[in-house]
Amino acid sequence: MAPLRDEILAAVTDVIDSTQYILGPKVERFEKNIAAYCGCGYGIGVASGTDALLAALMGLGIGPGDAVLTTPYSFFATMGCILRLGAKPVFADIDPVTYNIDPARMAEALAQDARTGKRIKAIIPVHLYGQCADMGAILALAKEYNLPVVEDAAQAIGAVYPLKNDGRTVWQRAGSMGAAGCFSFFPSKNLGGIGDGGLITCNDPALAERIRIIRVHGGAPKYHHGVVGGNFRIDPIQTVVLEIKLSRLPEWHRARRRNAANYRRLFAQTGLQESGAVSLPEAVYEAEGAAVGEECDYHIYNQFVIRAKDRDGLLHHLQRNEVGAEIYYPIPLHRQECLAGLGYEEVSFPEAELAALETLALPIFPELTEAMQGFVVEKIAEFYSR
Ligand SMILES: Cc1ncc(COP(=O)(O)O)c(C=O)c1O
Repeated sequence: MAPLRDEILAAVTDVIDSTQYILGPKVERFEKNIAAYCGCGYGIGVASGTDALLAALMGLGIGPGDAVLTTPYSFFATMGCILRLGAKPVFADIDPVTYNIDPARMAEALAQDARTGKRIKAIIPVHLYGQCADMGAILALAKEYNLPVVEDAAQAIGAVYPLKNDGRTVWQRAGSMGAAGCFSFFPSKNLGGIGDGGLITCNDPALAERIRIIRVHGGAPKYHHGVVGGNFRIDPIQTVVLEIKLSRLPEWHRARRRNAANYRRLFAQTGLQESGAVSLPEAVYEAEGAAVGEECDYHIYNQFVIRAKDRDGLLHHLQRNEVGAEIYYPIPLHRQECLAGLGYEEVSFPEAELAALETLALPIFPELTEAMQGFVVEKIAEFYSR
């Protein structure tokens, strides 16, 4: 933020002087730029990542009596939007390496749903921590069951996935593969605003138009409401800042990748992986891309998440040493109190439950120095040497 301060202040001043504070040409320009960056035809700016998910599901007609298949291991908004529409979340457990929804478990859930009433009307995979879910397998299931896919790409702007089409591999960006992609510009995201913000990407002009109308209370033309929408608008003050930051995004992605490589090197010197104390995140698409010299945002490391023995003890040790480590997420979605009495007590998703007990995110922001990372790893080694 500091090096961009003058540029940002000038852009914000320009918005203030323009007196156009809601939507307008600056928002439209940003929507086009983000859509192009993601490789999509349309972008619709909204007030948050949460509103992006809500408006996308509304645009697809999800409502009471429907079910939506998703992961039990994500930020609450992924499930919250399903519940707010009167629909029911159905979960499929995660892959223990990527923490993303496991297509094999999805196939089981979809087959069961087909036998018991076909209530599932959409699928929401989450590209958790900055790495795409296995979209090839997910899209194949979506095709088989004729379901739209809403990508929760809140943590993964710019991350690429090797999508196979007629034997050819096309590296596609998060949010460009399903019916819609949902992004968050919460300040801690790789592309973060100076407040809340979000965006929906899609390639279907009819869906884009429906979501645009839903964004303004369902009014089209103004004051004529064929559908019920909401106030999901983004302000140009956010979009001018985000547009400046978008030009730096590739550089920040690179810095986060460098930091991930630094952690790998520093941990390799400790023996902590061999002893089973910690395991590091894997960029699972990297080998395939490196082999053909393709793009390199295989993982954008919104979070660098390790698995750790005695995770809570380690977290306290790091906090005592003023290391900003965090747990994302301590309670899987199916165990949240708001679902009490709805039958989720009987279901279990062992990989999500284990991840909630074992994972810990280490600092990885672009400005992190190697010396700071050395300190983090030293403190982790210190904890396990006691
Ligand atoms: C996976 C995921 N989904 C949805 C959201 C919601 O985004 P926001 O906080 O912008 O509403 C977030 C971010 O916080 C997220 O990480």
